Amino acid sequence: MTRPIYLDHAATTPLDESVIQAMMPYFTEKSYNPSAQYEAARQVKKDISAARTTIASYFGARPSEVVFTAGGTEANNIAIHGIMQRFPDAHIAVASVEHDSVLLPAQKYNHTEIKAAADGTITPEATARAITADTVLVSVQYANNEVGTIQPIKDIAQVVEAVRAERRASGNTMPLYFHTDACQVPAYLDIHVSRLGVDLMTINGSKLYGPKQIGCLFVKSGIVLEPLAQGGGQERGLRSGTENVPSIIGLAAALKLAQENRYNETERLSEVQKHFIERVSRLPGVTINGSHKHRLANNVHITIAGKDNETLMMQLDDMGIQCAVGSACSASNDEPSHVLMAMGLSEADAQSSLRFTMGRSTNKEDIDYVVDSLGKLIG
Ligand SMILES: Cc1ncc(COP(=O)(O)O)c(C=O)c1O
Repeated sequence: MTRPIYLDHAATTPLDESVIQAMMPYFTEKSYNPSAQYEAARQVKKDISAARTTIASYFGARPSEVVFTAGGTEANNIAIHGIMQRFPDAHIAVASVEHDSVLLPAQKYNHTEIKAAADGTITPEATARAITADTVLVSVQYANNEVGTIQPIKDIAQVVEAVRAERRASGNTMPLYFHTDACQVPAYLDIHVSRLGVDLMTINGSKLYGPKQIGCLFVKSGIVLEPLAQGGGQERGLRSGTENVPSIIGLAAALKLAQENRYNETERLSEVQKHFIERVSRLPGVTINGSHKHRLANNVHITIAGKDNETLMMQLDDMGIQCAVGSACSASNDEPSHVLMAMGLSEADAQSSLRFTMGRSTNKEDIDYVVDSLGKLIG
């Protein structure tokens, strides 16, 4: 067992060694601006195209539908503001359990937060209730970054399609788009956009053993977004600025690896997760949050009644275990997690909750040590 035991993979993942190797030349001998005209720079432009094509192939999309961004936050902002600034009086329906990079942009417009069930699920029915005659955009995450609940994206896409059909039948030309924030899923789930039925989709490198501050937005062809920044017109004008070439290459390499290994990794981690949940559930006062059935294989989220999560997190840290309280991929604040509150937990329970997110390095032996350590602290 190597220490520390890192159980915060939903916050970020370490860079895969092969991804580092793929990126390295673009920091040094290939550090050209891809818009330059000489041959070596044009080759770098081709390498970006190849990376875009690789990513598009996992999305089941055209390369022209992939827009590189500086991470998940920026991709989500481009999606939400990009649509809403074109329809500023329209309405957006957004899941109450979204990451802040979706929720806060949506709150700038006429919006409805779609209620979550107690396990964090956003049901198709709740989504349908939140859509009004003015709704132009629905945004529901693929899987929750705190409790790991996987949302029924395909069923929600059908709800969106039914509303579109009604609008078409009544001669209403108001569009309706469906965006999903898929940042937590590429290492575990299918991200094929037409199988999912989404028009816009966000991923980032930081959660799939790729670099940070790189991501991309799938934008279905025909959808026009208002750019957030004006400049040199890179990325079809949607994300001006000299391309972050090493990270683009790294994102493609990391996504390829993550998608190729996703079945094996899901199967392996599901076993470790089952073991974790079985053992930790036996500790006094512990309840498991999130969906029991539709859950990312790497997530175990618990409430330990009456215990302060920050204290426990620091005690675990001292014992060589790194886990998270609240929303670990936002800068820390003292507010109870809006996700847990939206699921109906009390403020006290939200502040007695810990998130453990496993990854490629996690094994059952690690988990035994974690549960034994937690047992000593709360038993
Ligand atoms: C679901 C989700 N969306 C968006 C983000 C933000 O992505 P980034 O840190 O790449 O901006 C995160 C985590 O950081 C996340 O977990």
